[in-house]
Amino acid sequence: MTDLSFPPGFLWGAATASYQVEGGVAEGGRGPSIWDTFAAVPGKVLDGTSGEVACDHYHRYASDVGMLADLGLGAYRFSVAWPRVMPDGRTTSAAGLGFYDRLVDELLRRDVVPVLTLYHWDLPQALEDAGGWPSRDTAFRFAEYAAVVHKALGDRVNQWTTINEPFCAAFLGYGSGVHAPGVQDHDTALVAAHHLLLGHGLAVRALAGQAGHEFSLALNFAPAVPDGSSPAHLEAARKFDGIHNRFFLDPVLGRGYPADVLADVSHHGGRFAASVRDGDTDVIAAAIDWLGVNYYAPARVTPLADPLARSNCPLPGLRGLDVLPAPGPLTAFGWEQAPATLTSLLSWVSGRSGGLPLVVAENGASFVDEVTDGRVFDAARVNYFLEHLRAVHDAIRAGVDVRGYFAWSLLDNFEWAMGYSQRFGLVHVDFETQARTVKESGRFLGRVAKANALPD
Ligand code: FCB
Repeated sequence: MTDLSFPPGFLWGAATASYQVEGGVAEGGRGPSIWDTFAAVPGKVLDGTSGEVACDHYHRYASDVGMLADLGLGAYRFSVAWPRVMPDGRTTSAAGLGFYDRLVDELLRRDVVPVLTLYHWDLPQALEDAGGWPSRDTAFRFAEYAAVVHKALGDRVNQWTTINEPFCAAFLGYGSGVHAPGVQDHDTALVAAHHLLLGHGLAVRALAGQAGHEFSLALNFAPAVPDGSSPAHLEAARKFDGIHNRFFLDPVLGRGYPADVLADVSHHGGRFAASVRDGDTDVIAAAIDWLGVNYYAPARVTPLADPLARSNCPLPGLRGLDVLPAPGPLTAFGWEQAPATLTSLLSWVSGRSGGLPLVVAENGASFVDEVTDGRVFDAARVNYFLEHLRAVHDAIRAGVDVRGYFAWSLLDNFEWAMGYSQRFGLVHVDFETQARTVKESGRFLGRVAKANALPD
């Protein structure tokens, strides 16, 4: 590895998620997901939109894969829609599997490595009606679904990510309620989190054993940066880091749920504690081959005078601290741009996990983009990628085993509660016409990928 190069075999890719790009919500017998239901409720999605059409990737996947391959990216991280494969959450649909069959074949035809995520938040509505993630049964249904997809695609797909960001699925879906299914109850959110992690472990156990297959999950990290160095500041950072990061990371690494976080959330009642049964933490600790690190921004935290005061950040157990407005430069979403934090995050996760291989499974930024004469000169996003790739490179040079980098996202898409207001794509999508325009940032990332090195 020269000064600017990445390790041989480094995986360069872009990511998407089924509900955010596919559309075709009623095609091939797909059943409704919690996001179809949630988006239909007025006021839940900023611009009143849904993933009904999204990027029409369901029909345009072949040309989308072609664009990714032409850019020079060697991997595609996509998710499978559970309600496509199992419209009622339990019964397998051959037509639903057929879509992923075609997608995988197209990726392989273009020499693109498929990196498959089994769950990126679109739970079949039928399973939500039966209790959703707060129900233990859902974890077992997930493992069954995982086995069905694995049986169908395991002859061609080697990279298996179980769950994307259980933090969001649990705490935004069942705690703050800003994501589907929109439940607002921290006690329920903690139970959902446990069942998501349990589902991850059960799926890895069910799928493991085939030579060449690698298993992972993707966690979203928000490193806590205290705005001072007093003991109260450090305590605020400990609390935020605990519930946001360690609560998910530690059990996956076999360290169990962190004791300090359990103490922080204990006032939420006993349902979480009761949901963790004997043996569960062993299941969650199922060996993985790499961990997906999704990184966007840190959280600046400050202590409140009253340690029991409610936080402005609606997470379980979070008291006595506020999250401060992010300092600039900001993305269009209002997220801080803090590339150096990615280096320290990768080093921290690597150290805590005893050197587990890491993949940056999501990193990217929304900006206001304009198509001018058929081009999108998104200089701010080019700079964002450059700085974050330098940060990844710094971590690698410091000895962290980082194996890949996936930009969020290949396409501008349905950004959950923000609808179509946030553009994250390497490729601009005109949602009226579905016209695609490769952005400058897409070309930039493709050049870096082809060189397997930072530009000098
Ligand atoms: C992540 C999600 C992804 C996308 C980005 C911006 O938390 O995994 O689907 O919405 O944020």
